[in-house]
Amino acid sequence: MQSAATVLAAFALAATALTPPQRALRRQTRLHARTAEGMAPGWKATTDETGAYELIPASYEYQYQEIFVEIPRTAESPGLGVLLEQFGTLDAANGGLTLVAGLVEGGNAANAGVDLLPGDSIVKAGTTRVECLDYDATVDALMALPPAPAPAGLMVKRLVKVPFVNMRVMFPREENRKDVTFKMRRGASLRAELLRNRVEMPTCCEDMNCLCNCAVQVRKGAAVLEPPSTQEAQMIKKEPYWRLTCRACVSRDAEDGSELVIRMRPDLENVMRRKNPFGMETTFKF
Ligand code: FES
Repeated sequence: MQSAATVLAAFALAATALTPPQRALRRQTRLHARTAEGMAPGWKATTDETGAYELIPASYEYQYQEIFVEIPRTAESPGLGVLLEQFGTLDAANGGLTLVAGLVEGGNAANAGVDLLPGDSIVKAGTTRVECLDYDATVDALMALPPAPAPAGLMVKRLVKVPFVNMRVMFPREENRKDVTFKMRRGASLRAELLRNRVEMPTCCEDMNCLCNCAVQVRKGAAVLEPPSTQEAQMIKKEPYWRLTCRACVSRDAEDGSELVIRMRPDLENVMRRKNPFGMETTFKF
């Protein structure tokens, strides 16, 4: 009879070491083709509230999904048909990063069309937590699953790319400052994203007679933002190209890669509306 272990193949250990809990670094991670090796740099270890290691994305550009899969088995064919590969270690006591490397052709997982992709990490085998375990400990947990013909239930974590909006911030001419560019997640608060990227702006939040001090002028991509609330629309009703950073959010439906261009402090040089010497307002388009 074929044992489960015979269909779990190990490959050489990669040099990438999983490090113990790190502070969230804002770095860009370019993951390569969907192979275990290409996806491995996208994972990092942290600890949960109980102190146990858990896997999270190494970069803000990715998030993870948890997916449950069930691999059917028979007494004649009890194996899973899943290839595993280990990348680096946490420490001697706590294992490392073990990822799905592929499915065995003709194996149970492949035959059943189970949703497992290279780079997925098995975090639960049945009811046993296997998150951040090394190859041997992961295989031991798989071997301890209820015997075939019971199906093997696995919970995996999968890295998925977060859709982003490209942001460009322009400054008043007199500041002689270079544009700032960064990426924003859908649903993000405009003010929070600006502050996170060290773009300061005046505020009047504690002033009940708010003077729109945090306003920006939208030069491109107005549709990338959620439409203004009734209150915000009322506050900027004379300035159709303004948005208030304390209230505006990136739309949850914004397309990945769409662009938003804003200019800070439109109140300093109101390029929208200038008064002529006779006190009449003239609107300029840009
Ligand atoms: S801080 Fe006053 S309107 Fe935004």
